[in-house]
Amino acid sequence: VSVSSSGGNATGYGQTRYGFLHEDINNSGDGGIYAELVRNRAFQYSRKYPVSTDGYYSINGAKLSIQMLDEPLSEALPASMRVKAPKGGGVVGFENEGYWGMDVKQQPYSGTFWVKGEYHGHFTASLQSNLTDAVFGSTKVKSKCKTGDEWVEHTYELVPTKDAPNSNNTLAITFDAAGAPSGHLDFNFISLFPPTFKDRKNGLRVDVAETLYGWSSVIRFPGGNMLEGNTNRSYWNWKDSIGPLIERPGFAGVWGYQQTHGLGLLEYLEWAEDFEVEFVLAVYAGLSLNGDITPEDKLQRFIDEALEEIEFVRGPADSTWGSRRAELGHPEPFTLEYVEVGNEDWLAGGDKGWNAYFRYRFPLFQQAINEVYPDIEILYSGSAYDTSSPGNYHPPQNPAIGDYHPYREPDDLVDEFDLFDNQTVRHIVGEVAATFVNNGTGFDGDLHPFPWWIGTVGEAVSMIGYERNADRVLGTFYAPVLRNMNRWQWSITLVQFAADPALTTRSTSWYVWDLFALHPITHVLPVESPAGYGPLYYGAGTDEERDGAMVWKGAVYNSTNKADVPISVAFDGVKAGTKAVLDMRTQAEGNPWAYNDPFTGVNVVSTTTEVITANADGVFEFSMPNLSVAVLDTDVS
Ligand code: AHR
Repeated sequence: VSVSSSGGNATGYGQTRYGFLHEDINNSGDGGIYAELVRNRAFQYSRKYPVSTDGYYSINGAKLSIQMLDEPLSEALPASMRVKAPKGGGVVGFENEGYWGMDVKQQPYSGTFWVKGEYHGHFTASLQSNLTDAVFGSTKVKSKCKTGDEWVEHTYELVPTKDAPNSNNTLAITFDAAGAPSGHLDFNFISLFPPTFKDRKNGLRVDVAETLYGWSSVIRFPGGNMLEGNTNRSYWNWKDSIGPLIERPGFAGVWGYQQTHGLGLLEYLEWAEDFEVEFVLAVYAGLSLNGDITPEDKLQRFIDEALEEIEFVRGPADSTWGSRRAELGHPEPFTLEYVEVGNEDWLAGGDKGWNAYFRYRFPLFQQAINEVYPDIEILYSGSAYDTSSPGNYHPPQNPAIGDYHPYREPDDLVDEFDLFDNQTVRHIVGEVAATFVNNGTGFDGDLHPFPWWIGTVGEAVSMIGYERNADRVLGTFYAPVLRNMNRWQWSITLVQFAADPALTTRSTSWYVWDLFALHPITHVLPVESPAGYGPLYYGAGTDEERDGAMVWKGAVYNSTNKADVPISVAFDGVKAGTKAVLDMRTQAEGNPWAYNDPFTGVNVVSTTTEVITANADGVFEFSMPNLSVAVLDTDVS
């Protein structure tokens, strides 16, 4: 392969960007990257998910019941849990089993609970085993409930004296009924946080965040389908997601569970800030999953909400919504350059929804946003970009940027290698993953159980295709990105996890996304090879931010030849003796079906990194086996 040192194009967005879409699916937010350990902490509910004591168990015969008190903790949290001592009283209380377990280590946990009811005495908060009598840590919290007239917050720190041997643990809170004249107490907002990523209050779970941190350089949020909500009366309303946690009502999630809204808009923004990455913000555009389409004369409300949201994100601290952000602790505006109008607006609502999108919904949002923020680039979520039915493709209206979501069989991702070669409109690939086996089932069938090796290599081929067109493909996002192994609905994710951090597992795809992301380019360079493309797919570029490093990326997909594929890469201008890092990912047995299963803990991906030297003609020579992915980068620092 010869790589020219001139020609080609600058990438459209600085260095090439890889990242992910986040929405709460698979308990990836609550019970996932959001570090809260208590499940159902505030008895939030919606029409879709009835209120319950799910996650709680009684201690010493206490009766646990949901109450709708005349004086609730807040308007947003009208339900609470009554803990009533049995006849004879005693020390009673409840346990919470967390998101199917709790990881207990010798580290400080921050706890909170609110109580209503007169109580003289102390509470005991303990982290304990669910299987044995072991208590790993316990602390007493003096009651502040002198009169019982009002809700009172109790906070505490708990440092276990030993690590628990497994995650089958609970948080227990008890009190002595003798000190409670009524024989019962009402509890709400029962919360417990371990240390979080970068010590952010109300922040992210460390081990899960670390799987995404470092390689990703862009995040798209919120959602996915989550943004759209089930109906246009229950969409993801950003205003419900900000402010004190006890003022957040929660959200009727679209993936089978009520969400706490603990990970709200400001937390998303701080997530991006802590990851030091840019983000694409999606705003609700008046179309929900049930196909509810907001008519034109009712759309203004949602346009206003989007404008307010943008002001909350990037408005100065003395603007109406910027001052709200400042009040919440973040006076500095966030940098926001990309706003997406809706999510997959070609899908819900069928042709009618799609039609309404390009006829009035998208133009009205675009015009309103750009009138106030002419520098914001608007993304158009309404194009399926389905090349198999070109009539179905309604290109974004210039200067908008399209958003392409290929969930595909690996062969299809390879077929799409040149998809963007002749496309003039800019796009992001806002959601991509190999989800189905070759010649297997379509979208009505099941996804593969985990990302698997040939799927990963298929993704790599399409990613090289996007990178070759990086002047017009502005970013590539894996989706969905996280999966809690205890409750999920979408099996193909970059990372799997459960309560026990030992189960946190990077999928086969993670190893290739990490590889590509950590070798960015700022300019695509022309490449030429007499061999054409297939089974080797390749592209190259240079990175001005790394002193003009030359980078070649390649993937070998389904070679019929059993022998390794010999490769020579000649970077124009590179002299004999120049060194380059050759970073390769293979599957040791060459097994296309191999995957990383959290329960076996075996990593099926082999990583080899070596520094190689250009030969007398300035050419790098190496070989790659079938189903492999490699990067050659002259930045050896
Ligand atoms: O990633 C899962 C879902 O796939 C997203 O919510 C949606 O945007 C897409 O259809």
